[in-house]
Amino acid sequence: MEKVRGVGRRIFKYILRKWKLLIAVASLNVIGAILSVYVPYVSRLAINDIVYGDVSSLWFYAIVIVSFTVGHGLINFVSRYYSEFLAQSVIYEIRNDVYRRIQNLSYGFFHRINTGQLVARVTSDVNQVRRFIIQLVSGFLGSLITFVSAFAMMLSLNVELTLISMIIAPIVYSFVKFLVPRLRSFFIRARETYGDITSLIQEATTGIKLIKALTVERAFEEKFLTLNERYLDSMLGVARYRAIFWPTLTLVTSLITLLVYWYGGLKALGGQITIGDIVAFSLYINMLIWPLMWIGFIVISYQRACVAASRVFEIMDVEPEVKESPNARDIRIERGHVVFENVWFSYDGKHWILRGLNLEVRPGEVVAIVGPTGSGKTTLAHLIMRFYDPQKGRILIDGVDVRSFKIDSLRRQIGIVHQDIFLFSDTIRNNIAYGKPEATMEEVMEAAKLAYIHDFISSLPQGYETRIGERGVTLSGGQRQRLAIARALITNPRIIILDDPTSNVDYETEKAIYDALTRHFRGKTVIVITQRLSTLRLVDRIIVLDKGKVVEEGSHEELLKKGGLYAKLYRLVFSRE
Ligand SMILES: Nc1ncnc2c1ncn2[C@@H]1O[C@H](COP(=O)(O)OP(=O)(O)OP(=O)(O)O)[C@@H](O)[C@H]1O
Ligand SMILES: [Mg+2]
Repeated sequence: MEKVRGVGRRIFKYILRKWKLLIAVASLNVIGAILSVYVPYVSRLAINDIVYGDVSSLWFYAIVIVSFTVGHGLINFVSRYYSEFLAQSVIYEIRNDVYRRIQNLSYGFFHRINTGQLVARVTSDVNQVRRFIIQLVSGFLGSLITFVSAFAMMLSLNVELTLISMIIAPIVYSFVKFLVPRLRSFFIRARETYGDITSLIQEATTGIKLIKALTVERAFEEKFLTLNERYLDSMLGVARYRAIFWPTLTLVTSLITLLVYWYGGLKALGGQITIGDIVAFSLYINMLIWPLMWIGFIVISYQRACVAASRVFEIMDVEPEVKESPNARDIRIERGHVVFENVWFSYDGKHWILRGLNLEVRPGEVVAIVGPTGSGKTTLAHLIMRFYDPQKGRILIDGVDVRSFKIDSLRRQIGIVHQDIFLFSDTIRNNIAYGKPEATMEEVMEAAKLAYIHDFISSLPQGYETRIGERGVTLSGGQRQRLAIARALITNPRIIILDDPTSNVDYETEKAIYDALTRHFRGKTVIVITQRLSTLRLVDRIIVLDKGKVVEEGSHEELLKKGGLYAKLYRLVFSRE
C-alpha cells in the first residue's frame, strides 16, 4: 500500500509537469460543468412559468437551454482533445524515460530478465498507465467537477430531494465495483489467450520444418483449437456482463426518479416545492450517472494502474551494474595493449567463471584464445568491452583501467564480432555503418572488401541498399558473419575481438578473410576466439583457457609438443576440419 501510494505520487508528478495543460483542461471542464448544470436549472424556471401560465419568457429560456447545451458540447469536445493531448504527452515522457533507461542498462540486465517480460512491461504496462492517465484527466476530472457543481446546485434547490437523489451514488458505485473486476478478468483471460494464440501461430510458422519433421501437426492443431475456444468463451463472458449492465442501470435510475417524483409530488401538493424542482431533479439524476460511473471506475482502477506503473518505474529505477565513473575520460587507445590482472568474475555471485585470470596481449599482436566450451572465452571478451565489471582484479588497456574510460569511448575504439550475430532489419549499408553512421559509401565498401563480402553485395540487384531480414534478403550464416566483421572494421578500431568469427564460413572464405584481416590488422591488436586450425596456425600466439584460467600458451607447434589440453583439444576438435 505504501508502495502504491508512492507510485501514485510519481504518476501525478509526471502529470503536474504539464501543469499548463492541466490548468487549461481543468478550466474547460469547470466552464463545461457550469453550463451543463444550469440547463436543468433553467428548465425548472421554464416549467414553473408554464405551470403558472406565464409564457412570456419561454423563448428566452429556450435560447438559453439550447445555447448552453451547444456550448457545453463544444467545450466538451475541446476539453476532450486537450485531455487526450495531456495524457499522451505525459505518457510520451514516461515512455522516453523507460526507453532511455533500458538503453543505459548493463548487458547483464538483459540476460537476467526475460526479454518477453521486458517487452510486455514497456508495451502493455505503459499502455495500461496511459489508459489510466487518459481516464484520469479526461473522465475523472470532468466527472468530479460536474458532480460537485450538480450537487451544489441540487442542494441549493432542495436538501431532502438531494439526499433522495444521492441514493444513486452508492448504487452506481457498487454496480461498477461488482462489474469491473468481472469484466476485467474476462478481458485479461481473453488477452492472455490471444497472446498464447499469437505465439502458437508464430511457433507453428517459424518451426514448421521441425513440426513437419516430427510430424506433430495434429498436436499443434488441437492446441490451437483449445485456445481458440477459450478465447471465444472469454469474449462471450464480456458480452454477457455488458448485456446486463445497461438495462440494470436504466432500471435503477428510473426507480430513483420515481422516488423523487413520489416524494417531490407529495411536497409539491403541500406547496413546499414546485413542479419545476421535480423536473430539475430528474434531469440532475440522469446527468449524474456518467460522472458517478467514471469516478467509481477510476477509484477501482487506481490500484491496478499503480501496479502497472510500479512495474514501469521499477525498470526506470534499476541501477546499471556497469556504471560510468564520474571521472571517466575520453581516452584514445594509442597502442592497444591489453592486460588482465588477476581477474575474478562471476555472473551470479556464486559460480566463478574467471578465476584469477592473468593475460597480456601486446600491442599489434594477433592472439588466439581457445578452450573448451563454457571455459569463459566470450566472457573474457565481454569484460574488455565492459559489458560487465569483474568482481576482483582489473583490466588495463594501454595501462589504463577500463573503468577510467568513458564507456562510449571505450566501446567505440574496440571492434567486436559477437558469437551470436545480430543484424538489424535495415539495409546492408546501414548494417555495416551502424557504429559510424557518418561513414561514406567508400568507407562502407572498404570495410566490406576487407570482410570479403563486397563481391556478394555487389551481385545483389540493389547492392548495398538491399534490405536484410523479414522484409528483405535472407543471408547465410557465413554471409552474416562477414557482414558483422565489416561492421567491426568500419570504425578502424585499435583493438579487434573476433568471437568465433569464421565458424560458419567455408575454408576458402576463411582463408581470404584471414589474409585480408592480417594485412589490414598490421599494427592492430587482434584477439580471436576460434576453433579453426587454419586460423590457429596464423596467429602469433595461442592462449588456452580452462575453467576461467590460462592453462597454456605458445605457438601451435609448441603447444602440440607439450601434449597438454591444447593437444587434446586439437585431436578432438580442431583436426576435424
Ligand atoms: N549471461 C550469463 N549469465 C550467467 N551465466 C553465463 C552467462 N553467459 C555465460 N554464462 C556462463 O559462463 C560460463 C562461460 O561462458 P562463456 O560464454 O564465456 O563460454 P565460452 O568459452 O565462450 O564457450 P563457447 O565456446 O561455447 O562459446 C558458462 O558456464 C556459461 O554458462
Ligand atoms: Mg563463447
